[in-house]
Amino acid sequence: QARLTIRNIQALRDGGERIAMLTAYDNVTAAVLDQAGIDIILVGDSLGNVVLGHPTTLSVTLDDMIRHGAAVHRGTARALIICDLPFGTATDPETALRSAITVLQQTGCQAVKIEGGAPAAPTITRLREQGIPVMAHIGLMPQAVHQLGGYYVHGKNAESAERLMETALALQHAGAFAIVLECIVPDLAAEITRRLTIPTIGIGSGAACSGQVLVVNDLIGLNIERPPSFVVPRADVAAVIREAACAYVAEVKNASGQSKETQVD
Ligand code: KIV
Ligand code: NA
Repeated sequence: QARLTIRNIQALRDGGERIAMLTAYDNVTAAVLDQAGIDIILVGDSLGNVVLGHPTTLSVTLDDMIRHGAAVHRGTARALIICDLPFGTATDPETALRSAITVLQQTGCQAVKIEGGAPAAPTITRLREQGIPVMAHIGLMPQAVHQLGGYYVHGKNAESAERLMETALALQHAGAFAIVLECIVPDLAAEITRRLTIPTIGIGSGAACSGQVLVVNDLIGLNIERPPSFVVPRADVAAVIREAACAYVAEVKNASGQSKETQVD
């Protein structure tokens, strides 16, 4: 089974088959998602919040992405692997090109994702010219949280809806192979999906996109805080870990001198 390519992803969209995408940040989680048949794994800069305990994604560095991107890539054989370019590493086309080259060379990932509106278009074109596929990302852009003034749904009024539609078309024209629509009102996300010929990947943007992406920790319930309202957790892994650890603590505390390990094979 060869690894999926951006052509396979476009073919899924063209054939009307939904694209399933999740984030991953470590080797074993990526391997399990790959076994489950996930189409795309995103090494998201949500790494900052989810794994590193930062309040926003702004603290994530290119070195962070490279370390985790390489671990994810090593764990997988089938999924298309995309790595986020973190805050400050895609500020202009040449800076983004240097960043993307480093990521592809040092991780094995096949593509990068860049947050940004219409100003990201020249960057997308530049990378594409150099053979680097780019996934665009519009709507709620966490790297711009201080500019946006918080995390909220985008495209609610006619003016903002029109701007998002124009941006999506401009980024497709610039050469993006797909586009993430994050927290965009569902009717608008559906309209953008109809107008574009590249796949749209939704998160918190309704069911009509060409595919869906979630932060894997939200899907499996491996978090301390409640996940966003649009997520339906499929497991409670935090509870599984807590129970196993509690049982282990109790067993160690109650051991009467003789060692009785829980896992010996
Ligand atoms: O970093 C991330 O996890 C993302 C997805 C939520 C799209 O960018
Ligand atoms: Na991200």
